[in-house]
Amino acid sequence: METTPQPASMPRIGDKAPAFKAVTTQGEISFPDLFAGSWVILFSHPADFTPVCTSEFMTFASMQEQFAKVNCKLVGLSVDGLYSHIAWLRTIKEKIEYRGMRNIEVTFPLVEDITMEVARKYGMIQPGESSTKAVRAVFVIDPKGVIRTIIYYPLSLGRNVDELYRVVVALQTADAFSVATPADWRPGDDVIVPTAGSCGVAKERMGGKEEDVTCHDWFFCTKKLPKEKVFSALLRQ
Ligand code: BEZ
Repeated sequence: METTPQPASMPRIGDKAPAFKAVTTQGEISFPDLFAGSWVILFSHPADFTPVCTSEFMTFASMQEQFAKVNCKLVGLSVDGLYSHIAWLRTIKEKIEYRGMRNIEVTFPLVEDITMEVARKYGMIQPGESSTKAVRAVFVIDPKGVIRTIIYYPLSLGRNVDELYRVVVALQTADAFSVATPADWRPGDDVIVPTAGSCGVAKERMGGKEEDVTCHDWFFCTKKLPKEKVFSALLRQ
């Protein structure tokens, strides 16, 4: 009897990040425990010594300080071995100059996963794309170890690291101010306030009685949230 292959179980938004111990370019880590209290982006790449991945690593590393300022750490992963990782990162530092970035040292951990155990646990192996390489997966995990965002990209498409930074800041802003963030939101833009729970609140809002709140209709109200307020709350975490 022919059987249809069952998709591997994959973590979902709101799940606890699956735990693993691994060897990395920065020593052994126990994930996510080692990062408790910080946000962390766990991201996979298909292979060392490949061009798109090289451009991504240089970009992630050059933005590492910016991520650190919002309490966010970076962890990379591929199914290559440790010595390949070390040789590739050394080559990047010593030889690659790209878009004004040079002498880039990757100091965040890069996990070796030759058994694909971690990649499988996180649904990073997607056989329709490749059964021998991880796709470009991104898991944004909060300080309590909960997965808050998952994004997958195919092998050919390099990630927009600035967008990933925006995701972290938007999630932190939503948590700190109990708001949501609209399309293309950037710190300083208006945020979305929760839908009014009662008719009275909706009327007050529609009548412009709530300070700084603008209602486009009863279900769509925004308010000002200055950039300085966003960043002072994020820096306090
Ligand atoms: C790259 O990073 O350039 C790449 C890796 C695997 C497949 C295709 C492209």
